Amino acid sequence: MSAGKTVVALEGVRKAYGETVAMDGVDLAIDEGELLTLLGPSGCGKTTTLNVIAGFVVPDAGHVRIDGAEVTDRPAWQRGLGVVFQSYALFPHMSVADNVAFGLRERGVAGRRRGIACARPWRSFACRASPTGAPRNSPAASSSAWPWRARS
Ligand SMILES: Nc1ncnc2c1ncn2[C@@H]1O[C@H](COP(=O)(O)OP(=O)(O)OP(=O)(O)O)[C@@H](O)[C@H]1O
Ligand SMILES: [Mg+2]
Repeated sequence: MSAGKTVVALEGVRKAYGETVAMDGVDLAIDEGELLTLLGPSGCGKTTTLNVIAGFVVPDAGHVRIDGAEVTDRPAWQRGLGVVFQSYALFPHMSVADNVAFGLRERGVAGRRRGIACARPWRSFACRASPTGAPRNSPAASSSAWPWRARS
């Protein structure tokens, strides 16, 4: 679903780790309001792509633009993006929703606005996890519950 102006763009991005080419000539445009999923076999470069967008990995070639501005060499903390990592890097003592909203809280976004910002993608994903539940790495979550078990 595309809904507006391009907010994240990759142009001709290449990233190699030594002999391993993780990205080569990657072009991507993500529009405002659009939800995008990267799907592919292990090692095809999904995480590298996300890290290049977030600013954790600097590409060898190409451009990264956010809201039209060139950010290729801008550090992660100056990009105004939020990243929710995989289960092992979540805060186990916080709910799923609080993990998602953590970056916004650190940036001083008020509670109500944080809730609205997190609820929208949640509805779009039709996620069957409860946002008030504990993340999977929490001691409160059982290994049989996928992906999260709601707190009772
Ligand atoms: N820091 C690194 N140092 C060396 N090689 C790396 C590094 N990070 C990723 N790679 C290699 O780059 C390629 C792409 O890795 P990447 O993690 O982006 O793939 P992925 O699509 O996210 O895989 P997965 O589905 O397993 O998470 C792989 O061959 C991987 O081994
Ligand atoms: Mg990955």
